Amino acid sequence: MTATDRPGPPLWLLAELTYRCPLHCAFCYNPVDFARTRAEDELDTEGWLRVLNEARALGSVQCGFSGGEPLVRDDLEILVAEAHRLGYYTNLLTSGVGLTEDRAEALKAAGLDHIQLSFQDTTKELNDFLSHTRTFDLKQQVAGRIKRNGWPMVMNCVIHRLNIDHIGQIIDMAVELGAEYLELANSQYYAWAKLNRDQLLPSREQLERAERITNEYRAKLGDKIRIFFVVPDYYENRPKKCMNGWGNVFLTVTPDGTALPCHTAKMLPGLSFPNVREMGVGEIWYDSEGFNRYRGDGWMSDTCKACPEKEKDLGGCRCQAFMLAGDPAATDPVCDKSPQHQVVLDAVARAQLPGAGTAAPLLFRDPKASRRLAP
Ligand code: FES
Repeated sequence: MTATDRPGPPLWLLAELTYRCPLHCAFCYNPVDFARTRAEDELDTEGWLRVLNEARALGSVQCGFSGGEPLVRDDLEILVAEAHRLGYYTNLLTSGVGLTEDRAEALKAAGLDHIQLSFQDTTKELNDFLSHTRTFDLKQQVAGRIKRNGWPMVMNCVIHRLNIDHIGQIIDMAVELGAEYLELANSQYYAWAKLNRDQLLPSREQLERAERITNEYRAKLGDKIRIFFVVPDYYENRPKKCMNGWGNVFLTVTPDGTALPCHTAKMLPGLSFPNVREMGVGEIWYDSEGFNRYRGDGWMSDTCKACPEKEKDLGGCRCQAFMLAGDPAATDPVCDKSPQHQVVLDAVARAQLPGAGTAAPLLFRDPKASRRLAP
């Protein structure tokens, strides 16, 4: 990294408070070996308070509390109150499980600004199947509670082959529940979703239909709700500027205190990431090897270095490059200039075949599978 590559502050702090979660989603973005982080390994209240203070002093302005399910931490209100006192804009990313009347009241008093509530589908059957829990009715009640407390609400629904044909009903439900924002986030194929990729990747026809319907709703609904539709990387021919650039804006702190430039970076070989128990957030952000490794363009492959679009996407996603090309410094194989692009084309081709997605059962996130899958 040269002096001119020196990044600004970590504007966005993602506090992954815990990997514990009552749900078992087949597309969960937590690491597949999440069960190796036990409750007793989690950073304690004091540790999180220090992280909040240090990151804010560095210039962080937005703080997301996520997990797992952050509501399983009974110190969530203390952390939100401190983040609010420090001047962060605070966001809770939740499945809704645990957001009782009492906790909603306490979080309101603590100054929580915003809630993102996840649904898996608009039908009770599929919602409960995909999360492997009976949570659909509860989520509906929680949505009402969020609105009664006056919070702006993002409804988030991860989209994939099994629910993409319900896109219109999903939008209708978001409007009915009073969501200000709807994230139709097509699954990206990391962690548990990568294990289930062939079952979850939609066909091109499904994707085009869903995008068309979303655009029709946007035209019809105008400002009533803002709808974000995120296309799966596999259907693009240029990669995304992942995390808006490695170590550029986002700082994730995992439940055990490991600091990462994105939530899956821990799997990358040959890199060590510091822990907030041992190093201050400022030193982690500016000086640690893990955060500096993929800043600038010195690390890029010749393909990326020579590409006129390299500033736009910064070579794509390091985690995807590792998962699909076996090398975190490779051009993201989503890019059609990547020598490994065929891997993506093959997965997309399989998704168009009759009977696609049915060859194997879904693997649901659960601690036993996690231990089995751990290296
Ligand atoms: Fe890790 Fe893209 S998810 S760099």
